[in-house]
Amino acid sequence: MSVNKEVKKITTNTLQKMKASGEKISMITAYDYSFAKIFDEAGIDIILVGDSASNVMAGHETTLPITLDQMIYHAQSVVRGIQRCLIVVDMPFGTYQGNSKEALSSAIKIMKETGGHSVKLEGGVEVVESIKRIVSAGVPVMGHLGLTPQSIYKFGTYTVRAKEEEEAAKLKADALLLQEAGCFAIVLEKIPATLAKEVSESLHIPTIGIGAGGDCDGQVLVMHDMLGINTEFKPRFLRQYLNIAEQVTGAVQQYIKDVKNKDFPNEKEQY
Ligand code: KIV
Repeated sequence: MSVNKEVKKITTNTLQKMKASGEKISMITAYDYSFAKIFDEAGIDIILVGDSASNVMAGHETTLPITLDQMIYHAQSVVRGIQRCLIVVDMPFGTYQGNSKEALSSAIKIMKETGGHSVKLEGGVEVVESIKRIVSAGVPVMGHLGLTPQSIYKFGTYTVRAKEEEEAAKLKADALLLQEAGCFAIVLEKIPATLAKEVSESLHIPTIGIGAGGDCDGQVLVMHDMLGINTEFKPRFLRQYLNIAEQVTGAVQQYIKDVKNKDFPNEKEQY
């Protein structure tokens, strides 16, 4: 496994160097202290405190309901667990789209209250003024194009984006705009692999793909999907590395049995 543990702390500069040298960037979501600690010690490059917390932690159907204060709570917990990786905190729906001044105050609140290292927001030309303002305040920004879940009611479905020429052309133009605005990286979600390759080659900043093929500069997965905690979500792009739901079910069933049978606790497990 090529995890460079010599690197003391991953910064946006480290990611830039990784792109230049062809070393792929690994990113995973986390929402709490304990998993963040495990992922950081395993050598992950970036932890995204995703607004997917709205789905996988709170059980909402979309990412729209999660609030800025709830994202801050998750990010604070994650930050306490890490020593090495870069932390990106998602700006939730409604905290940056209104105007760039509001976007800046939301980003500042995240940075001040969480100790995170950067923020992520969704969209292209529509949010470029917000990105410029946040970057000008010294806050690193990760962009997010393609399937942007905060716009689910505009899209209507979670299907692959930018398959048609017009949407692909907008995505390519948006990627360049985001780079010019000062983004340090861009997530490309659920777009054709050929388009993601073209965008990745056209940029000097790294792209991080999810359902966007192997030619992005890095990959991101939602922890609940790749660890098999959430087993109902099985898109083609997902590789499931564990089946935690099955293992936990087995363990808890055994515990219930042991309690009912008066097998737990035994003599050695008491004072
Ligand atoms: O919120 C999230 O988990 C994300 C990833 C899907 C990239 O934005």
